[in-house]
Amino acid sequence: MIGIADYLDKQLRDYGIKEDLSILDFGCGQGNYTIPIAQIVGGNGKVYVIDKDKTKLNQLLVIAKKVKVDKTIEILESEGQFDFDLSSESVDLVMLFNVSCCIIGQDNYPEFQKLIHELHRLTKKDGKLIIGIKEGKTMLNRVETGIPLISKEFKLDKKEKGKYLDGEKLRNGIFYSLTKK
Ligand SMILES: C[S@@+](CC[C@H](N)C(=O)[O-])C[C@H]1O[C@@H](n2cnc3c(N)ncnc32)[C@H](O)[C@@H]1O
Repeated sequence: MIGIADYLDKQLRDYGIKEDLSILDFGCGQGNYTIPIAQIVGGNGKVYVIDKDKTKLNQLLVIAKKVKVDKTIEILESEGQFDFDLSSESVDLVMLFNVSCCIIGQDNYPEFQKLIHELHRLTKKDGKLIIGIKEGKTMLNRVETGIPLISKEFKLDKKEKGKYLDGEKLRNGIFYSLTKK
């Protein structure tokens, strides 16, 4: 039977994550995805992480040191704002996993658009944006409404069902794969 680590590794590679790439994991939390991404990109790659929750970032650093990927990971300071201290066109791929609904909230599409605009600036030409959300009507409706609003900056290539890691478990999720315009 395929284990969780193998599943994540395969899923991340299917989204185009590979050795030497620069990735941004926005809303990384304690690093459920950051750690496997750092293991894939390796020492010549980079994983920039952003989270407004400093406790979670500290937990991420402890795990990263334990599995020896801490040098691959760089924290970008954030208090929840959407202008990051990173040069334009720095990253090949942005991950937005289980965080878009936190931004959209009840109906805060202007904030979501602001974030997407900043992610567009940071992404290289033809770079990717992967949005992962929990399967569920409310979440899905919110993100479905948000996708056309960002279509001036990112083109939707693919929407599919899959599994995402929630704590220790794989749960059902929906994934949107988009390319920078
Ligand atoms: C549900 S967790 C997802 C963590 C991780 N991406 C995962 O899939 O396991 C959402 C994270 O987004 C962070 N977050 C929410 N709004 C944010 C903002 N405006 N700026 C930075 N981080 C934010 C929260 O602090 C939280 O750690």
